[in-house]
Amino acid sequence: MDQAQLPVFSVLPQHVGIIMDGNGRWAKQRGLPRYKGHIEGAKTFRKIGEFAGDLGIHCLTFYAFSTENWKRPPEEVAAIMDLFREYLRELDDRKAENEEKGIKVNFIGDRTGIPRDILAMMAHSERITRKKDHVILNIAVNYGGRQEIVHSVRELAKEIEKGRLKAKDITEQMISDHLYTAGLPDPDLIIRPSGEYRLSNFLLWQSAYAEFWYSDILWPDFTEADFTKALRAFEQRNRRFGGV
Ligand code: IPE
Ligand code: IPE
Ligand code: MG
Repeated sequence: MDQAQLPVFSVLPQHVGIIMDGNGRWAKQRGLPRYKGHIEGAKTFRKIGEFAGDLGIHCLTFYAFSTENWKRPPEEVAAIMDLFREYLRELDDRKAENEEKGIKVNFIGDRTGIPRDILAMMAHSERITRKKDHVILNIAVNYGGRQEIVHSVRELAKEIEKGRLKAKDITEQMISDHLYTAGLPDPDLIIRPSGEYRLSNFLLWQSAYAEFWYSDILWPDFTEADFTKALRAFEQRNRRFGGV
């Protein structure tokens, strides 16, 4: 979008998390197979990612595939993985453009269980964007908040086993530092479209003081105007963090 047409906000969240939900229902409403909804959802992901970056949001986390989504029919999982491959190829093709925008791509989630060719492309995308930090684009793949906390606790337990850490010295910061989002600000705003009012295992630890914004719109129909609405709502929120 043209810089002059971009909305202006008095306060912007530093980190926005988005649960991209409703692809299947979008397809069903049109009598289409579910994977067609994922194709449209992937387009929305590109559009909103770009818009958020243009607005100057520093950090974005898109929930693309959860640790629980493996329960879906294999052909649906395969279709989602194919879309992921397509996106990863595109990241490589658009290397110069992304570099100019200062985008750093980061995948969060458990890497075991992800097809090997995809893992290689993920590592490649992270490598070619690692020096940038204007916009941090986190994509949650095979991600589960509980699994992430277990991962962090295991890392600390290893330190204890080696005698380098005492249980009584474990702090919140140490747990945060071993999450996939280590070093990033906690999400200020979590957006969930599709009329569901739950976290579905997304950024459990990090969302302790996040503001939530829900909408009935299905993700493939989600527009820049909807994203703007969420940011306007955030502008009005009075965040107290337990104080007065
Ligand atoms: C979100 O859309 C995409 C993924 C979870 C991968 P859904 O596929 O969950 O869409 P609905 O909720 O069935 O409509
Ligand atoms: C959450 O959506 C996961 C992603 C958007 C990737 P789901 O559609 O899997 O969540 P539930 O099953 O409705 O809670
Ligand atoms: Mg869903």
